[in-house]
Order: sequence, then structure tokens, then C-alpha cells
Amino acid sequence: MKQIILTGDRPTGNLHVGHYVGSLAERVKLQNSGKYDEIYIMIADAQALTDNAEHPERVRQNIMKVALDYLAVGIDPEKANIFIQSMVPQLTELTFYYMNLVTVSRVQRNPTVKAEIQMRNFEASIPVGFFCYPISQAADITAFNATAVPVGEDQEPMLEQCREIVHKFNTVYGETLTMPQIVLPSNNACMRLPGTDGKAKMSKSLGNCIYLADPEEVVREKIMSMYTDPDHIRVQDPGKLEGNTVFTYLDAFCQPEHFAEFLPDYQSLDELKAHYQRGGLGDVKVKKFLNNVMQSLLSPMRERRAQWEGRLPEVYEILKKGSEIAAETAQGTLDRVRHAMKIDYFTDNGLLK
Ligand code: TRP
Repeated sequence: MKQIILTGDRPTGNLHVGHYVGSLAERVKLQNSGKYDEIYIMIADAQALTDNAEHPERVRQNIMKVALDYLAVGIDPEKANIFIQSMVPQLTELTFYYMNLVTVSRVQRNPTVKAEIQMRNFEASIPVGFFCYPISQAADITAFNATAVPVGEDQEPMLEQCREIVHKFNTVYGETLTMPQIVLPSNNACMRLPGTDGKAKMSKSLGNCIYLADPEEVVREKIMSMYTDPDHIRVQDPGKLEGNTVFTYLDAFCQPEHFAEFLPDYQSLDELKAHYQRGGLGDVKVKKFLNNVMQSLLSPMRERRAQWEGRLPEVYEILKKGSEIAAETAQGTLDRVRHAMKIDYFTDNGLLK
């Protein structure tokens, strides 16, 4: 069986380092593993419109930004197809057919949908399109016969729901759709990276993100003012690691070789942590180390971004070509779906048979 990746992001803003450890890093790794026959990376503009219907410009202005984020982190357009969701109308048609296989109460039980409804104050007036986005996400995944879906932990309920739809479709209409597997980051700290303020999650509205596109100085400032242990006042005080954002980030980003390069007094993160807990290690020193770690990750991304920014017409072509290829693949699935559902009336004089 072909190994195929499909994943994507809503273009509602620049991508941040939470996206990177939560999912982008894994995609690049899988892309470069050579184990995948096809890779599709989707800019989910139609999904972004489900809660931005009155602000289409917000979605539009982020398409190129997200594309540049992808290219900056090392998504290789030679290996991966980057495309725009709404340019593949087959996805909408698949969604419409899958809607019949899902109950309203099942979508209401989806924890991610529940949380988003609360967050957006949609309780009394949920747009139908928004409500259906988990179903449209199942269309995204199945249209490309994806076997692997590398996403952040918050997308787990979507994958669960997609798998149910695949199972139901195949049971009712015969074996047609491919069952996808979720691919989560292996490191726990990467699952739900907190914002720089220590709040639960990085989010644009909270202003607590470090963006992949942030200049060096901005990243430094954000790190130097990061939330640590509020009771760690003097250097000699013992410090706490729980809820200490700087250490959570080190758990997510620090590699053993960073010590030799930036902090040779210590051998490992465990040793650094032990010293912090004992007392005698100041926040500034740890933050400076984290800054070096982050800059060493982000600076090659800045270089790649600058190169692509100088070639925007090429980026445009990548998206256009990628969307054409995606539409072809999705059409193949749609043909098989129509056949399975016995609505392929005009194929081979179907209606006459
Ligand atoms: N829901 C994802 C996000 O918010 C974007 C997305 C849409 C997606 N369709 C998908 C991710 C299919 C993986 C597979 O970022």
C-alpha cells in the first residue's frame, strides 16, 4: 500500500514555535525519511472561513504567510505538494456525502469542537459550516488516501471522527476509503507548548507566541521576559520546574549538543534542572541559554524565508501547481466514492444498467 501524508493548517496568522514542535517538525522529518510516496500539505482556508465568514481578507492575507512558513521550516516543494483547500472543490462534495454518516450529537461530543464553541462564544448561534468542519476534515484526509496525518494533539478528536466516518462509509458502501493513522510528536513537552506567559497554550489572541517569522531581537526579548517560577526571587533560592515555561521550552527544544556549544559548564538538561532546583542558578542564565537554543533553530529558517521572499512568483506557482495536482488526486477519490454510492450515473452509461 502507498504511504501517503496529508496534513495542514488554518491560515489565520503566522505559524509559531508551538506549531513547529507540535507538528511541523514531524512533517519535515517524515518528508525526509523517504518512506512516503506522496505528501500533501494543505492551507485550510475553507476551514478558516468557518469562523471567519465575515472577514475573508483575514484568511486571504495569511495564505502566502503560511506558505512561506512551510518553506522556511524545510517543507520541500519537490517532495511535498503544498495546496490551498478551497481550490480543490472535490473536498466540498465529499463533505456533503459524509455529512449523512455523522449525527449532530456525535459532532457535539467532539471535545475540540466543544472547546472552540466556548472560546468563540458560539453557544447560542453556531454556524452550520463551523459545526461541520470535523466532517470536512475527514474529506480532506480521505480525498488523498492518507495513511498518516501528522498533527498536534488538539487534532486527535478530528482523527477519531475521521476514522469513524471511514469505517461507516466502508461498511455501508463497500471498502473504498483508506483508514488514516494520526502521527503525534514523541516528546511530551512538544504536545501542548505553553505561551511565553506560561498560559495553557500559545495563541495569537493572548499575544504569547514566538513566531517562526520573528526577527532575532524580538525572539530574544520574548524569551528574556518569559514566565518562570514567581517564587525564585534571588539566585540562591531553590527554583521550581513545574509550570516553569523556560524549562518546558528547554524540554521541547534543547538537544544534548547544545550544552557543548552554548553552556559547557553543564553536561545535560537534567544537570541544569538539578542545579536550578537546588538554588544558585539564576533565571537570566537559563533564559540566555534558551535564547541560544531557539536562535540556532530559527536562524536557518530565517535564511530560507528570506530566499523565498525574494522569489514570491515561484511560491505562487508552487501553490497553483500543488492545487492542480491535489484536485486531480481528489477527483480520483470522488469518482470511486460516487461509484461506491451508486451515483455515477453518466459513467459508462451507468444509468442505463
Ligand atoms: N484543523 C487543522 C488546524 O486547525 C487544519 C486542518 C484542516 C487539517 N484539515 C485538515 C489538519 C486535515 C490535518 C488534516 O490547523
